[in-house]
Amino acid sequence: MANSQEPKIKAVRGTRDLLPPETALWNFVEAAARDVFRVYNFHEIRTPIFEETQLFARSVGEETDIVSKEMYTWEDGERFEDKKLFDAWSKENEDRVFFQEGIPFTSGIKPLGIQRQVWRKVTNSVEFVCFRAAVSPEAIAALIKARSIARSQYSQEFHTLPIRLRLVVPDTTINRSPWVKTAEVEIEGFPGSYFSSSQSLTLRPENTAGVVRAYIEHKLWDRGLNKLFYIGPMFRRERPQKGRYRQFYQIGAEVIGPPSAGSESPARDAELLELLATFLDRLGITGWTLQINSVGCPNDRARYNEALRKALEPVVSQMDPDCQRRAVTNPLRVFDCKVPGDQPIIEKLPRISEFLDEPCCKHFEEVKSILHAVGVDFQINDRLVRGLDYYTRTAFEFTHGALGAQNAILGGGRYDGLSESLGGPAAPGVGFSIGEDRLVLALKESAEAVQRKPDVYIAPLGAGMDREAARLARELRRHDIAVELGDENFRLKKSLETASKQGARFALIVGENEVKAGAFALKNLETGEQKSIAREMLAQSIQTIP
Ligand code: HAM
Repeated sequence: MANSQEPKIKAVRGTRDLLPPETALWNFVEAAARDVFRVYNFHEIRTPIFEETQLFARSVGEETDIVSKEMYTWEDGERFEDKKLFDAWSKENEDRVFFQEGIPFTSGIKPLGIQRQVWRKVTNSVEFVCFRAAVSPEAIAALIKARSIARSQYSQEFHTLPIRLRLVVPDTTINRSPWVKTAEVEIEGFPGSYFSSSQSLTLRPENTAGVVRAYIEHKLWDRGLNKLFYIGPMFRRERPQKGRYRQFYQIGAEVIGPPSAGSESPARDAELLELLATFLDRLGITGWTLQINSVGCPNDRARYNEALRKALEPVVSQMDPDCQRRAVTNPLRVFDCKVPGDQPIIEKLPRISEFLDEPCCKHFEEVKSILHAVGVDFQINDRLVRGLDYYTRTAFEFTHGALGAQNAILGGGRYDGLSESLGGPAAPGVGFSIGEDRLVLALKESAEAVQRKPDVYIAPLGAGMDREAARLARELRRHDIAVELGDENFRLKKSLETASKQGARFALIVGENEVKAGAFALKNLETGEQKSIAREMLAQSIQTIP
């Protein structure tokens, strides 16, 4: 394809390719996360990236933005109802064709999956017809084969009649396959719906629900307290902008278990927050702010929602339509309204902190006091509500100034009733998810700095030297030396230029004389110094020369 041409197929809006050297930064972040998880005794869980839609509706909440408008949901396990298509097509065509039910519709043809044989009055031709969910090479091949069988085995019946071939598919699937172009078979897209669905599936918009589903499914309470982490893609159909993607990545952790294992303890909340502060510090991310709130226990929540509804009633008509909708469906989410005109109203609403009952207050106090004890700074934000419905008690977010409008680098909190709402036993839990894309944006580290460069570039010189270079590369790589291989057709100048461009520390020249002598010219690309080094000393020299 010429350079000037726009590529026809591009990554879908809101998704992106991560290319080297940026991927080095991602690996750096993930390696640091794994290190931190190890010292806090967390273990990895990998759950599928799609789940039953019900899981998210029941956990994240039907009324949330995520579930009501941002999920990638489809009907899966669609069953093609071929009989329905067969009947509909037959009915539509009954005046135009004569259905031939008997001979020669026999042994040789039927097993090929040819469902109808008709005689077309207008063209005076016989037609074999297949009904399929979509155009497929198999169906086309079967029709062609049927015709050749008919001609050879039933030549008497067919010798005067042309045989036409027809493949009928639902018109909704006709463009799904590139096999539509065939001169021999007529492809007909027939209108109507011929699929019955069996289950609704959704690409995970977040992973707490999946982890709790796995907890229940595998009876993980037998293990006591589970400290789990995950790294992977999530999917939300949001309006893409800087720091907001439709496929994004999260690094998350969940602590979940039966109450007897200590899962309800405020010490768990504080441990997670301290882990997060440690992780961000390790990455060299400064300037973050931790905001925490308690969104209350279910009883507090009911009383608070009632108070909010009452307070909103006289003013709700002055609010932005989206905020008005929230006021009715889920009053707590009114605090998430960003419309500037609504802020004075929101400012005056009652705060959840005034409604917390004693155990809930005590829990929150204890979280704060451990944070003080370990020296993690935080701000109380009693307007902090999260965009997911499962939270109880502690809720938190870390924000970062460098991120602009999408400034939440991570979020999380406690979800003590989630397991029960999914049909599991009581299993209090607390967790967080870091937006990895945003974390990488906030890193001052440059991708170039963390990408490992080749230690040595091997420059084979002349015919037959690729072989020798490959042998040497194999020896050196066994010593964990990063090797890039040149090509025997390159001139030395080109090899050295390539080596420098790739940031290699050394170039190793492999010519016939060197191979014979068992010693190779090792050129330090930084100083320009060149030495002849015996084969068995090469690895050591590369590793020890600074
Ligand atoms: P969340 O606040 O919806 O919480 O998402 C966590 C983080 O994921 C956000 O703070 C943000 O950094 C990142 N994020 C969300 N949407 C996008 C997007 N479209 N593009 C880029 N980054 C995004 C949860 O997902 C909960 N599961 C957290 C949790 C775990 N609560 C308890 N355990």
